[in-house]
Amino acid sequence: MATEAQAQWVLTATGRSPTNIAVIKYWGKRDEALILPVNDSISVTLDPDHLSATTTVAASPAFPSDRMWLNGKEIALSGGRFQSCLREIRKRARDVEDEKRGIKIKKEDWEKLHVHIASYNNFPTAAGLASSAAGFACLVFTLGKLMNVNEDYGELSSIARQGSGSACRSIYGGFVKWCMGKSDDGSDSMAVQLVDESHWDDLVIIIAVVSSKQKETSSTSGMRDTVETSPLLQYRAQTVVPGRILKMEEAIKNRDFESFARLTCADSNQFHAVCLDTSPPIFYMNDTSHRIISLVEKWNHSEGTPQVAYTFDAGPNAVLIARNRKTAALLLQRLLYCFPPQENNLDRCV
Ligand code: DP6
Repeated sequence: MATEAQAQWVLTATGRSPTNIAVIKYWGKRDEALILPVNDSISVTLDPDHLSATTTVAASPAFPSDRMWLNGKEIALSGGRFQSCLREIRKRARDVEDEKRGIKIKKEDWEKLHVHIASYNNFPTAAGLASSAAGFACLVFTLGKLMNVNEDYGELSSIARQGSGSACRSIYGGFVKWCMGKSDDGSDSMAVQLVDESHWDDLVIIIAVVSSKQKETSSTSGMRDTVETSPLLQYRAQTVVPGRILKMEEAIKNRDFESFARLTCADSNQFHAVCLDTSPPIFYMNDTSHRIISLVEKWNHSEGTPQVAYTFDAGPNAVLIARNRKTAALLLQRLLYCFPPQENNLDRCV
């Protein structure tokens, strides 16, 4: 492969991927190893300037093993999910040539070349802000870039899915649907873009960080328990979500904020109901999350039509989607009034 003179080269690639927030939630797998979901889901991808992962991958004949650092701390790459992503990308690697530096990597060399991966999140890891989504999407995208992989985004999304389910949706911007697929090998379980980020650019997303602590129950183990114990999950996946997906696609296509907000809030609430229906029950939201829900519900009710949608993932932080900048400014005022940023947070509302 490499001559003595070449042995010191290092080839790098860098990429950035935003996180995404589901408005119709993914919760529950029908296949744990391949990460195949029990229902379709829909998400909105955030602006990468605000919440994203940045990853640099490097390959060199001088590296004796694959290694990874997350936010500067080395983490084990032995997990099946990292290994699946690395394996799937390596399989699709192609020749790479850098004439100026005299680097020539043949397709088959990638099997023996080791990689070093450094990834940074610009937001709290595992606080229920979908950091694994941005992380795995970025890992797959950047490895693909390094190894000159020529797959389309659908194929990359199905590789990212094997790192973390929600990661498949972060391959695209705008509104994205993860089609659960039917096949047992997962080949048709991938994300598609519904509309790009310019389609509905009035929307403003505010994330109220209620706690930046690491969540107690990971999504992976939480949804495993739900699949095993919740009778409500079957009803949700088979009866409720298919109809909601169609309505949500329609609402997004027509920029119909009223339907969008109603569906988003209802689906977040049902996801947390399914968590409560799990044995033992899983509590991701806390009192502050509940107070934020009340604040938004009361405001929406008093206006007669929804102004803001809320959605909560596997943690207490609120993701609030305002219909436009003016409503977002009013929302911030209300939040700051009810939750003043001071030590003795007065209980002024709800
Ligand atoms: C509540 O994608 O983190 O955010 O596939 O086990 O890695 P794994 O789970 P993950 O689950 C995300 C769950 C959710 C809802 C969603 O993003 O759709």
